[in-house]
Amino acid sequence: MFKIVKREEMSKGTVILNEIEAPLIAKKAKPGQFVILKANEEGERIPLTMAETDPEKGTITIIYMVVGKSTALFKELQVGDSFQDVIGPLGKATHLEKVGKVICVGGGTGVAVLHPITRGLKEIGNDVTCIIGARTKDLLIIEDQMRAASHDLRVCTDDGSYGHHGFVTDVMKEILDEGDVKLVVAIGPVPMMKAVSNITKEYNVETLVSLNPIMVDGTGMCGGCRVTIGGETKFACVDGPEFDGHKVDYDELMLRLNAYKEEEQKCHQDYCT
Ligand code: FES
Repeated sequence: MFKIVKREEMSKGTVILNEIEAPLIAKKAKPGQFVILKANEEGERIPLTMAETDPEKGTITIIYMVVGKSTALFKELQVGDSFQDVIGPLGKATHLEKVGKVICVGGGTGVAVLHPITRGLKEIGNDVTCIIGARTKDLLIIEDQMRAASHDLRVCTDDGSYGHHGFVTDVMKEILDEGDVKLVVAIGPVPMMKAVSNITKEYNVETLVSLNPIMVDGTGMCGGCRVTIGGETKFACVDGPEFDGHKVDYDELMLRLNAYKEEEQKCHQDYCT
């Protein structure tokens, strides 16, 4: 079970794609849902939203960035190796509806999460413009897939090495100024989702973001994934992972995400040396 059938390295080896045998999950999963994976007995549990599912083949695809010990452990797994546990599908599926003009904004590995949602929104008849960004050209992922999943793809790099020189929010603003945008879906680093939400609030455009906070059990029992949405405590694993971007307490989320940063880095360094 959970054997890796395909493996790709992207972004100079810092981002890994794994296609994994998980027929029951592949059959039930919908865009926006996530799985919790564990590499082996010593590994911690990591929540990752699925980038692709293939019910006929019985596989799911995850794309992750190598940032700590556990993702470094994931990276060691090769085609033919297996994850010890893959639990899911978890979380609520994205509510896909025909609304008209939609902008999908993705940054970093959030682009992978955005992929099935973008495709789903296009398939039901929305006019979908997708904006993806990265620090530099080499760090962009799945550009061709995102082009196929949308009607129009715009690319941004912070250093100007490819596409628009600047942030995804610059391009988003231009499209918002053209008018008629009914929905924005933003998935990526928390500062990016915060910046997108601040802008769309001014334009009064509904905005969905996908949160990936610290999760432990993924079933609503431990409270590890609590986030504040519109002043109320919610659990990202069962109430999310998607929420109204205008209601998220991003500062609290960032504090919680950075709470174990030092330990994470030390653990990663110890593991790599
Ligand atoms: Fe434990 Fe959500 S991960 S409550």
